[in-house]
Amino acid sequence: MNTSMDSGDAALREAYALATAFLASLPQRPVSQVATPQEMASALDEVLPEHGSDPAGVVGEWFARAERGITASPGPRFFGFVNGGVTPAALAGDWLASAIDQNAGMWAASPAAAQTELVVLRWLKELFGLPAEWAGALTSGATMANLVGLVTARQWAGRQLGFDAAGDGLAGQPPIVVVASSEIHLSAVKCLGTLGFGRNQVRQVAARRGAVDIDALASLLRGIDGPVILVGNAAEVNSGHFDDLGALADLRDAHAGGAWLHVDAAFGLFAAVSPRLAHLVRGVERADSVAADGHKWLNVPYDSGFAFVRDGALLREAFAASGAYVAGSGGWDPFTHVPEMSRRFRGLAAWCALKAYGRSGYRAMVERCVDNAAAFARWVEATPGVELMNPAPLNIVCFRLVRAALDDTASDELTRAAVRAIQADGRAFVTGTVWQGRAAIRAAFDNWRTTAADVRLLQEAVAQAGIALAA
Ligand SMILES: Cc1ncc(COP(=O)(O)O)c(C=O)c1O
Repeated sequence: MNTSMDSGDAALREAYALATAFLASLPQRPVSQVATPQEMASALDEVLPEHGSDPAGVVGEWFARAERGITASPGPRFFGFVNGGVTPAALAGDWLASAIDQNAGMWAASPAAAQTELVVLRWLKELFGLPAEWAGALTSGATMANLVGLVTARQWAGRQLGFDAAGDGLAGQPPIVVVASSEIHLSAVKCLGTLGFGRNQVRQVAARRGAVDIDALASLLRGIDGPVILVGNAAEVNSGHFDDLGALADLRDAHAGGAWLHVDAAFGLFAAVSPRLAHLVRGVERADSVAADGHKWLNVPYDSGFAFVRDGALLREAFAASGAYVAGSGGWDPFTHVPEMSRRFRGLAAWCALKAYGRSGYRAMVERCVDNAAAFARWVEATPGVELMNPAPLNIVCFRLVRAALDDTASDELTRAAVRAIQADGRAFVTGTVWQGRAAIRAAFDNWRTTAADVRLLQEAVAQAGIALAA
C-alpha cells in the first residue's frame, strides 16, 4: 500500500458491476446455498498474502471464490429467520457512508454523522408513535439495542437499591430480579448473561399461544419485594405473537418495589406504522426502553438497529465515559449512549431510506408483507398435509407437516425433513424451529421485494416437499 495508489476507481467499478449483477439476479437466483464448511474453507482459506494485488481483481476474485456460499437473503423468497432486504435508497446511503468513512462515535469526529443520527432517531420516534423526548441511539441490531435498554435498566435498578451499577459494579450488592415471558428472545437472554444478571436467573412466566400470561405474571410480581426488570415481547420470534404491553405497563406501575419495562420489539414495532395493525403494539409508548431492528423491517443493510430510552440522563449515566482527548465538542456524542466508541455511520442508510420512502411507503410495505403472510397462512389452513400451529396477527407463519397415519414424533421428523428439502430445492428459504415441544417451520415476511407470485412459489415448494417426502 502506498500513497501513490490510484483512487480505487477500477475497484469501485468492479464492485458496482458485481453488485448490480447480483441484485438483478435476485428474482431468479436459487435462494439458499447449501455449501458445506469444507467447501467454503477450500474456496477461501489461504495464508496471508505476502504481497498485494490489484484491488479490482481482488474484489472480483473474492466474489467468484465465495459465490457458492452467498445466499439470496435480500431477495423476495427468503422467508427464513427475520430478514429484510436492502432497498435502493438504503444501499446508496450505505455505499456513500463507506466512501466518506465518517466516525459516527462523536460530534467532533463528524458533526454530519451525529446530526444525521439525531434526525433518524427523531423520524423513527415519529414513525412508531414514541414520545419525542425519549433518548436513543442507533445500534448494530436488536441484540445491541436490547443491551442498551437493559444496561440502562440495570442502572435504574441499582439506583433503587442504593448503588451505582456502572460506577461501582454489582459485586456485593443485592441481586436484581429480572422477569420475562418464557418466549423471551435468546438475544435478550444473552444480554442478561453479559450484564451479570445470569442467563439462568431470569424468572420466566409461561406464555399462552406466545403472549405472556398476565395473571401468572401478576402473581409472580406480588411475591417480589424489590425492584424488578420486566422484559416484554413485541413480538416473539417463533410465531409473531405480542405480549399485552398495556397490561405490562400497568403491572410495572403497580409494583410496590418499582419496575422497569423493557420491550424487545425487534420487528413488532413496525406494527405501529399501520393504523390497521397499531393496536398490536399499543402500550409500547409506556415502556421505559424499547429495542428494534433496522436490518429487519426497515429494510436497510446489515448491521442496523435502534434503542429508545425514556430517561436520557439515566442512559448517559449508564454509558458515561470521558477522556481528555475526547472532551468538549459541545455537540451530541453518540458514544455516551452505546457500548462502542468509534462507530459506523449507519444513520446515512436509514436517513436515505426514510427520506426516499416516507411514512406512507413504509406503511404500504408493512401492510403488503402482512397481507402476504395472511395469504400464505390461509393456504396452509386450506391445504391437506400442512397445519397452522399458532395463527398470528403479523408477519410470521408457523406451521408443520402432518399425515393422518403419523404420530407427533413422526410428524416432527417429517417437518424437519421438509425444512431440509425446501432449503435444498432453492425456490424459497424457510427455517425450522420448535413450537411448544413440536418441530415447526417458520416463514417470516418482511422483505419489500416479496410479491404474491413469490408467496405462490413458497406454497409450491412446501407442497412439493410434502409430496416428495410422502412418496
Ligand atoms: C424478537 C427478536 N429480538 C432480538 C433479535 C436479535 O436481533 P439481531 O439479530 O438484529 O441482533 C431478533 C432476531 O431475530 C428477534 O427476532
